[in-house]
Amino acid sequence: MSFRSCIAVCGYTSIYNMPNSSWLFLRSSLVTDHHSSSSSSTSTSYHHHYHFSVFFFISGISSEKHRQIHILPLLLIMALPLHQLPIIMLGLCFSVTMLSSHSEAKPLQVGFYSETCPDAESIVRNVVTHAVSSDPNMAPVLLRLHYHDCIVEGCDGSILIENGKKSEKNAFGHQGVRGFDVIERAKSELEATCPGVVSCADIVALAARDAVSLANGPSYRVATGRRDGLVSDIALADDMPDVSDSIFQLKAKFRNKGLSDKDLVLLSAAHTIGTTACFFMTRRLYNFMPGGGADPSISPRFLPVLTSRCPRDGNVNVRLAMDEGSEREFDKHILENIRRGFAVLASDARLGDDENTRSVVNSYFDPTSASSFEADFVDSIVKMGHIGVKTGSLGKIRRKCSSFN
Ligand code: HEM
Repeated sequence: MSFRSCIAVCGYTSIYNMPNSSWLFLRSSLVTDHHSSSSSSTSTSYHHHYHFSVFFFISGISSEKHRQIHILPLLLIMALPLHQLPIIMLGLCFSVTMLSSHSEAKPLQVGFYSETCPDAESIVRNVVTHAVSSDPNMAPVLLRLHYHDCIVEGCDGSILIENGKKSEKNAFGHQGVRGFDVIERAKSELEATCPGVVSCADIVALAARDAVSLANGPSYRVATGRRDGLVSDIALADDMPDVSDSIFQLKAKFRNKGLSDKDLVLLSAAHTIGTTACFFMTRRLYNFMPGGGADPSISPRFLPVLTSRCPRDGNVNVRLAMDEGSEREFDKHILENIRRGFAVLASDARLGDDENTRSVVNSYFDPTSASSFEADFVDSIVKMGHIGVKTGSLGKIRRKCSSFN
């Protein structure tokens, strides 16, 4: 006569390495098939036919909508008798250690390449300096590229990949993003100096930092050690913050990435440099209200300026400065423009619609406040640079930024 029993041992380990970073979920179960083996009905002994230890390794980015799930090696089937349970448990602990040491996300580090590629940061800086001196528009272009990289799938260089129509870079929300050639140039110089060491994701973050300082903005240190992502999918960029979003949508989309209302203000202030195509102005100037008409938050003094540069049915590719009067200088002038109805982009104007964001904007003009726009911008962009970073086995180092090796 036989009967079954089941012993389940479940282990759960969660390793939370960094905010918005990776976590490890490990579950194991041991099931023992337990039945009588004796031909005699009087004596019963236990035979343990199966001990299953199943490891699920699930890694993901807490702030991202698409959690990656890998079911790793992971299947260990043992047929051991119950008295060997300690051995099984020991093996299990060993496996946990191996798995976590292999895939554990290590925090980013300032000077990550100081030993493996000591010239990494200066190589990037030289390439960016050269690009900006031959085309000053490259400073805002590279800053924007960093934001677009980070906001979809984390700062992992996913926007650089060219894998046909479904490439993330072709997403509507990434329209007009440029600077890929500069990143690729830096990458090929780095590959010539220290092959297979510096990630494209780090190059993007460093290039943005250099772009800000070349536009006379603050200088700051960038922690490195990001690895390049393994996914590029146009659908992942479906929910990008949009120029026509309400302040509630903008706040929610930023919050979703671990960024606060204050970060939303400071990062939007990146529009202190650069230009927008009239394409992004049409709705704000001519179709904002249900029956047509302009966004009422535009100052009546500024509206004719905008409509003359972007006439109705005019060329949507004409570009205009986003920080009227100071588009080459990285400064808080844009916040002043937002306060007085001189915002160019609708999403910048929306910062005045909400008490929280409005008070952050105002804080930089309050003589009694100790807030420093430059210092706070640095805090926010450094924070943005940590969104969903991949380290360890969650990413790799590409040889070319536009392709998965
Ligand atoms: C709040 C959400 C945001 C929206 C809706 C938004 C939207 C836009 C739009 C429509 C443009 C014009 C693009 C073109 O015509 O080529 C633009 C340009 C730009 N954006 Fe944003 N942006 C946002 C956040 C950010 C952030 C967080 C950064 C950087 C930290 C950034 C940096 C830039 C820069 C530097 C440009 C100028 C690019 C150039 O001159 O080519 N933006 N943005």
